[in-house]
Amino acid sequence: MLIKFERALDSLKKGNLVAIPTETVYGLAGRIDLELTLRRIFETKKRPFFDPLIVHVGNIEQVEDIFFEITNDQKKLMDKFWPGPLTIVAPKRRIISDLITADLDTVGVRMPNHGLTLRLINELKVPLAAPSANMFKKTSPTTPEHVLMNFKDSIEVLDGGNCKIGIESTVLEIKKNKIHIYRLGQVSIEQIKETLPDHKIVISKKIKSPGALEDHYQPSIPFYLIEKKSDLKHLKNKTGQELILDKSAAISARILYKNLIDLSNLGVDYIYFNKKNIPDDPDWFAVKDRLLKAATKI
Ligand code: TXA
Ligand code: MG
Repeated sequence: MLIKFERALDSLKKGNLVAIPTETVYGLAGRIDLELTLRRIFETKKRPFFDPLIVHVGNIEQVEDIFFEITNDQKKLMDKFWPGPLTIVAPKRRIISDLITADLDTVGVRMPNHGLTLRLINELKVPLAAPSANMFKKTSPTTPEHVLMNFKDSIEVLDGGNCKIGIESTVLEIKKNKIHIYRLGQVSIEQIKETLPDHKIVISKKIKSPGALEDHYQPSIPFYLIEKKSDLKHLKNKTGQELILDKSAAISARILYKNLIDLSNLGVDYIYFNKKNIPDDPDWFAVKDRLLKAATKI
């Protein structure tokens, strides 16, 4: 059910889950101080408990109660990119539930750039744990209607319109003079380098971030990445629709999940996209990452 602000605030206060709008994708949110609520997030998504949740804050003071300490380097990133699509991972305080962090001693935090959600967290006065509001491994929702489709009528959705960015936040951790990037989003490697020029950037291959699992973001029908039309010739008895993106990487990010979900609901057998349609350019890395992980092997 689509709901308005006051109802969302009331539900969260009671410990219920509410799907919340952010600038990246919709999140399935619950207050971080109730174990039962945190458990329901995992159960609702059918998400394994080894996959940690991101904590969403409404102001910097809240981070002081979550991170063990806030370093100058982290502060620089917060000043530059918050509110916005950057999740910072750092050692956590003991009070932060092990459910949120999947027993890791670090926790990921971000301040989302969406007026309604910032107000919600600040009026609740408790940060919100929120993974993307989709079933585990499936495509993240960027519209309120997509969240409703994912959970039928079991979850209340705070209607905040369509997400402006459309792909998940960049996730990173600073360790000494190295920045480990666990997931790439709209905040780019170049922007991070500009903010912390003395640090070395490492793209983490380790699957510390299950968002880095190879199969993720999958639509409900097969999605094939091809190089030429003939790659699909074994599917000649089936019908496919081409995924269309934009010339701009930012617009492509915004429409990627929406188009994948809408095409999945057309009644065709599969979706395809020609890899040659996107340039080998750093601006496109985050979109390319999502395309690769959403794809079914041919
Ligand atoms: O844009 C976003 O980040 C969205 C919106 C709702 O804020 N959230 C999102 O959450 O994408 P989720 O749960 O789908 O992805 C969170 C990613 C996961 O891959 C998780 O493993 C990683 O963040 N993560 C969270 N805490 C971590 C930690 N302590 N160490 C490493 N990775 C962590
Ligand atoms: Mg997700």
